[in-house]
Amino acid sequence: MTNRNLFLQHLGQTSEAPLALEIVKAEGAKLFDVNGKAYIDLIGGISVCNVGHRHPKVIEAIKKQLDDYLHIMVYGELVQSPQVQYATMLTQHLPPSLNSVFFTASGSEATEGAMKLAKRFSKRTQVIAFKNSYHGSTQGALSIMGDEYWRNAFRPLLPDTMQLNYNSFDDLENITQRTACVIAETIQAEAGVIAPQNNWLKALREKCTATGTLLVLDEIQCGFGRNGTLWAFEQFDVVPDILLLGKALGGGMPLGAFIADKKIMDSLSREPVLGHINTFGGHPVCCAAGLAAFKVLLEEKLIDSVKEKAALFVSLLKGSGAFDASRPLQVRHCGLMIAIEFENFETNKKIIDELILQGIFTDWFLFASNCLRIVPPLVISKEEIIEACTIFTRVANTAST
Ligand SMILES: Cc1ncc(COP(=O)(O)O)c(C=O)c1O
Repeated sequence: MTNRNLFLQHLGQTSEAPLALEIVKAEGAKLFDVNGKAYIDLIGGISVCNVGHRHPKVIEAIKKQLDDYLHIMVYGELVQSPQVQYATMLTQHLPPSLNSVFFTASGSEATEGAMKLAKRFSKRTQVIAFKNSYHGSTQGALSIMGDEYWRNAFRPLLPDTMQLNYNSFDDLENITQRTACVIAETIQAEAGVIAPQNNWLKALREKCTATGTLLVLDEIQCGFGRNGTLWAFEQFDVVPDILLLGKALGGGMPLGAFIADKKIMDSLSREPVLGHINTFGGHPVCCAAGLAAFKVLLEEKLIDSVKEKAALFVSLLKGSGAFDASRPLQVRHCGLMIAIEFENFETNKKIIDELILQGIFTDWFLFASNCLRIVPPLVISKEEIIEACTIFTRVANTAST
């Protein structure tokens, strides 16, 4: 039996139509399947592989850590150098109020931890989030997911949650002195790349400050240089009370974190103790990999080229002549987080399927199934961008005729 058949038979499936490609090697911005076919990776493990697949310095750091120790104890008890070094370096690149890092094993767990921290610290219960936001699939994170279609199948969920419209100034009035925290993606990813407009994020920050509500910004997908600055919030002149990180945080290994001021974070360690605990949060190999990836991101100045690469993508896509002039291609982007909007899912799916056949790996967004996703490793070369866009042009034009 082939691995593909065994995959379908023995692995829990997330849909009835998984891609089920068998990838046997990944390098830089390329994937290679079992038949030796190469793909330009326009997804980067969904915004995980910012420094590229298997960067040599990340591999070296992992190998070095393997020689010292793997898991030795649950999170929070022992001094583990990879955790300490990574947390210290992260805080050195964050505003002074984000000085305490709680490592988790995933992005969803970071969301859970942050919600618990906000409730504990504020002694309030209400958690507010936004429509079309994604913060994870565990039940707490699912309770604030921005679409009733996905939440409904699992009710009852957490009480005292509310979803507001992203970018709505009027809706901010719902944030009151009852609200423990407001959680927002700094740039909404799964909504199909929606950025905050007209100082809305600043107004949100001000409303949170005025009501004593903690502002949680989720940069699990948009952090680590993807939008042209190390953290997306830098572009909007706000600082969150709690920052959520994941995905690229682990350099290709599973890792999440919520980061706050120590004065806030300390409330998880008393009355009662053990406010949030886990076994694998901050796994030493993951922290070693993440730290190495973070250093690569900064030392190789990968963020410096994000805007230029994004501009190249956008100009080639818009100039592709895909569809006719009366229906110009709709492209939204924030750095190397790009969404191409089609009129419906069917057209998008047809194009995605054909692109994959032609060696371009992409997909759609959870809340925007009519939008094609381009969130490549930041190391993608100009030649790879040109090749990907040339193939896209051919495929999209054929699909539209
Ligand atoms: C913005 C955002 N928050 C949270 C999560 C959840 O992270 P994880 O899948 O690691 O649990 C994701 C995952 O896609 C995400 O995109």
